[in-house]
Amino acid sequence: MIKEKNRNSFSGSIGFVLAAAGSAVGLGNIWRFPYLAAKDGGGLYLVIYLILALTFGFTLLATEIAIGRKTKQSPLTAYGKLKSQWGFLGVLACLVPVLIMPYYCVIGGWVVKYFLAYLTGEGTHAAVDGYFTDHISGEFQPIILMAVFLFVVAFIVIRGVNKGIETFSKVLMPILILLVLGIAIFSLTISYTDGQGVTRTGLEGLWIYIVPDFSGITVKGFFTVLLDAMGQLFFSLSVAMGIMVTYGSYVKDEDNLVRSINQIEIFDTMVAFLAGIMIIPAVYTFMGREGMGAQGPGLMFVSLPKVFSAMGKIGVVVGCLFFAMVLFAALTSAISIMEAVVSSLMDKFHLSRVKACLLETAIALAGGIVVCLGYNKWYFDITLPNGSHAQILDVMDYLSNNLFMPLVAIGTCILIGWILKPKTIIDEVEKTGTKFGRRGLYIVMIKYITPVLLLVLLLKSVGILTFI
Ligand code: ALA
Repeated sequence: MIKEKNRNSFSGSIGFVLAAAGSAVGLGNIWRFPYLAAKDGGGLYLVIYLILALTFGFTLLATEIAIGRKTKQSPLTAYGKLKSQWGFLGVLACLVPVLIMPYYCVIGGWVVKYFLAYLTGEGTHAAVDGYFTDHISGEFQPIILMAVFLFVVAFIVIRGVNKGIETFSKVLMPILILLVLGIAIFSLTISYTDGQGVTRTGLEGLWIYIVPDFSGITVKGFFTVLLDAMGQLFFSLSVAMGIMVTYGSYVKDEDNLVRSINQIEIFDTMVAFLAGIMIIPAVYTFMGREGMGAQGPGLMFVSLPKVFSAMGKIGVVVGCLFFAMVLFAALTSAISIMEAVVSSLMDKFHLSRVKACLLETAIALAGGIVVCLGYNKWYFDITLPNGSHAQILDVMDYLSNNLFMPLVAIGTCILIGWILKPKTIIDEVEKTGTKFGRRGLYIVMIKYITPVLLLVLLLKSVGILTFI
């Protein structure tokens, strides 16, 4: 194993918080959070999400960061170092970023395509029906743009923790926040009168977003909101992907973990909330309530370009800024996904950073090509156990998000909550003398509530629990 003293570390807590927040803030915040908020009764979803972020999210985040710092290892070797019989959990935790990286880069390539379209004044074409499908089913362009995105990520990761990840996060994250704030404020100022003479405003859209809608809420409905919020938190906080263990392993022993964990939580939740303010009022104003049903690629690459187009000339500028912002968010997340694999290869096989990075780039490139071909030569449409239709990208997303990530998180809860005991993590967090504020809550969460909720989420994802 690489000796501790040779291991890279973030220069300080600001670098760590920005890198970890950069990892957390990604496509998940932008294309899934607003949709779930609109679907699950606005404010009700927001309140549940916030409570879960402060309990469930906090528990997993604190655990993974502390595991990283305590072991000074990336996921592939960290779990085994904690308890030798539990090395298998590290393999599983490392498999998640290996699976996610190829399709994250494919989506990154789509973002590059839209950013360039708006930048070169072709943005209005992006609003035409079929533009998105034509692009993703193209033979070469999606592969080339995926590779461009991947190479940029690899270039940053190859530069190392300080010169690469930390430096880029320190530059990109403040710009990202400014763009999110600017677009969110703009979104609240707009109004539009449609063909039937109905005028809708951004402020009305904001109302729909934040006011809880309890109409017709049932126990089943409540559970749906709860599980939606939990699934979202998982992906959004970058937990159970090996990432936070990796970044935690670069945190210096003298850094205050309690403060950093709070800041990362606040950052990610704030951006997710602001993403809702950016998107929901704009989509509502120009497309009405019926336009608010899209999520994922459908929302970002089909609905939003139509919204930008309806804005007229300014829509081209807003579209360009929006896709620049998405690109930054996707880049900082992809960097962390790649780093989790690279760091694992370095720790386990003693590879140099350059070699590990080249190997992971080759794996992601091959996987990315397969994902792109899934919309072209190798197209198929299968139904997943949770009922959704899937191509290769969705299958990989399903395996990582719905299967492996809950398994990694449940395993982590059992290992820490029952075998090593929560004190392992609490001691690590309190090492610098700062009190672990939510200590009692942490113990209850890691031992009981989190694993049970995760098991329900897992059983629902694989189609075993169908009544909630
Ligand atoms: N946390 C990252 C995202 O939300 C992976 O996209």
